[in-house]
Amino acid sequence: MARILITGSADGLGQLSAKSLAGQGHQVVLHARNAERGRYAKQNVPGAEHVIVGDLSDIDETKNVAYEANALGRFDAVIHNAGVYRVSPKEIFMVNTIAPYVLTCLIQKPKRLIYLSSNMHLHGDANLENFKKDSSRISYSDSKLHVVILCMAVARKWRDVFSNAVDPGWVPTRMGGRGAPDDLQKGYETQTWLAVSNDSSAKVSGRYFHHRTDSRFNPQAGDVVLQERFLSLCRDITGIPFPNSWLHEELHTIP
Ligand SMILES: NC(=O)c1ccc[n+]([C@@H]2O[C@H](COP(=O)([O-])OP(=O)(O)OC[C@H]3O[C@@H](n4cnc5c(N)ncnc54)[C@H](OP(=O)(O)O)[C@@H]3O)[C@@H](O)[C@H]2O)c1
Repeated sequence: MARILITGSADGLGQLSAKSLAGQGHQVVLHARNAERGRYAKQNVPGAEHVIVGDLSDIDETKNVAYEANALGRFDAVIHNAGVYRVSPKEIFMVNTIAPYVLTCLIQKPKRLIYLSSNMHLHGDANLENFKKDSSRISYSDSKLHVVILCMAVARKWRDVFSNAVDPGWVPTRMGGRGAPDDLQKGYETQTWLAVSNDSSAKVSGRYFHHRTDSRFNPQAGDVVLQERFLSLCRDITGIPFPNSWLHEELHTIP
């Protein structure tokens, strides 16, 4: 059985992934933005081991989420699921782009990393020139490209980790809206499969999946120069360098 941390698991696809994995007997750690949402998350997934609380729009709270996760011990998989859509561009940037970067850098390296993207990333632009200048110009689609860039950079740099991105489809969660046309169950099955399956097709890295099918992603995400620029801008904004493999073991212990 595996230990899995799922960010943003108070609702939507995060909660459904958590229920599914806990139902299969895995040890699941939930994450919610505050204590009230944490209680709600735990009520809905009573089989979960623990809930970590922290608002991912705040860098210090995001760092604390990583430190709390490390205090619980090493995870087999982390699903970077939390995301926002119809909010300010600043919040989109912090939750969808910066938080996954911070958590990836600071959480003790798991065996598998899964990043929730969207097919909207295909129309996004890395838009790196606005990272420091004007984050209000960064769109949801841009942010969902950023997580694919991060995922592909991790896959390239950490050869001992399976790092993959997922497009869950347009599904009827709070974010997707009631009229969303795609299958809700298929919307979480790919990330849970990538987190725990022993299928050879799930033990791969540097892929972008839609409904368990290896799919085409925005070529900007595979551009190594752009990946490096992305990581260095995230480092400048957060003060946290992307760890080389050897450094990562040291960094996660910093309080
Ligand atoms: N639904 C779709 O059609 C669709 C399509 C493509 C991609 N996606 C992606 O799939 C992922 C899950 O989406 P969903 O549809 O399940 O959305 P959702 O129903 O709105 O759930 C989002 C989750 O993220 C949490 N979250 C948001 N901001 C947070 C913050 N500042 N700190 C901590 N937690 C925060 C939410 O907590 P609260 O409940 O407390 O707000 C909630 O648990 C997202 O990354 C999204 O971009 C969804």
